[in-house]
Amino acid sequence: MNNGKLTGKVALITGAGSGIGAATARLMAAEGASVAVTGIPIDGVIAVAAEIVALGGSAIAIQTDVSDSAQVEAAVAQTVEKFGRLDILVPNAGIQMHKEDRNLHELPEEVWDRTHDVNYKGQYFACKYGLAQMVKQGEGGVVIIVASVTALKGTTPNVSYSTGKAGLVNLARHIAVHYGDQGIRANSICPGALERTPDHDNHPNPKGRDSATVANVPLGRLGTPEDIAPFITFLATDEASYATGANFVIDGGLTVI
Ligand SMILES: NC(=O)c1ccc[n+]([C@@H]2O[C@H](COP(=O)([O-])OP(=O)(O)OC[C@H]3O[C@@H](n4cnc5c(N)ncnc54)[C@H](O)[C@@H]3O)[C@@H](O)[C@H]2O)c1
Repeated sequence: MNNGKLTGKVALITGAGSGIGAATARLMAAEGASVAVTGIPIDGVIAVAAEIVALGGSAIAIQTDVSDSAQVEAAVAQTVEKFGRLDILVPNAGIQMHKEDRNLHELPEEVWDRTHDVNYKGQYFACKYGLAQMVKQGEGGVVIIVASVTALKGTTPNVSYSTGKAGLVNLARHIAVHYGDQGIRANSICPGALERTPDHDNHPNPKGRDSATVANVPLGRLGTPEDIAPFITFLATDEASYATGANFVIDGGLTVI
């Protein structure tokens, strides 16, 4: 791991106890980064960090609820305390209230608030405290925000989810414009439909969702976290040093059909 593309870099990933965040933590560690694996619940976070360390990588597990400003600030501080700096930030944590987050004219305010508190405000907290550290270091940095193809279309019934994701695409653009002169790059990623969604077990009709969605994917299958993690990892490397303010859609062609 001494000759990896991220050797010497320190990454913090939110929601890294499973799915895309976990796959990205593994890949960044394999490329030599020291990784702060943050999220809730803690069991998954500990397991991912332990797996990385067992393979000879460098990682710490930090229990962090992104909807709590103080916890996110503490996670950045703990990362810097352990690894000395922060170079790469991946605001990735997300929830999807499949059953409740629909029918806008009847949508309970608490569903809207809870979804935005985690998916949107939580990313703001991560960017706020992550950027503060990068600005303090004065050596640039990289932010890769995990949004969703639901940001680009009106098709999903989950309206709080898709509107928050749309905001995240512009959050990355904002950072690109206003922090570019400090060597900080920011991009967003829009994954398509993966085999497991956040809160997959609460989907009212997972099998129906799978078959209906696959019919609209030119590549003929749902995605996996391992389809997405290489793009996030690539954007963190110096090979992507001219990429900023962009939104990358990785969806098997779902949005072009
Ligand atoms: N799976 C998909 O089909 C898909 C598609 C597009 C975008 N995404 C986005 O990708 C990101 C990762 O999702 P995933 O597919 O890996 O699903 P996932 O459920 O495996 O990952 C989300 C992670 O966030 C954690 N989390 C939930 N609430 C949190 C909180 N308050 N604080 C910190 N962590 C919290 C979860 O425990 C989980 O580990 C999410 O932002 C999601 O919206 C997923």
